[in-house]
Amino acid sequence: MTDITGLSHVAIAVPDIAKAAAILEKRLGVKAGPVHENAAQGVRLAYIDLGNARIELIAPLGPEAPLNAFLGKNPGGGLHHVAFNVPDIEAALAEATSAGASQTGKTGRNVHGQRIAFLHPRDLLGALVELEENR
Ligand code: CO
Repeated sequence: MTDITGLSHVAIAVPDIAKAAAILEKRLGVKAGPVHENAAQGVRLAYIDLGNARIELIAPLGPEAPLNAFLGKNPGGGLHHVAFNVPDIEAALAEATSAGASQTGKTGRNVHGQRIAFLHPRDLLGALVELEENR
């Protein structure tokens, strides 16, 4: 069985991170950290630390970013993916794919240098799942 050890984050795709952070701060009282860029993933992002998990605000980095397609369908923003902690990403991917999930894209790295991989929503009840390696 895929060894999931916890929830890392829930990602909300937004057109503008600063505006999104201001809305969540005003309405929910939560504060976003600094904005990072992940060129390989084509995103700008900021985290809201909730203690036991984070919200990840993501926005497209430039006109070619894959996230633009999602925002085309959800122009005001929307829930984009859920990320689980796994101790070993290769083992987790092998287990999940042998059990019927499929990886979408290539295994990459997040802004903290941790290895990440995405599983296609068609095999997971419509939810895009990210696996994040936390050793
Ligand atoms: Co994520």
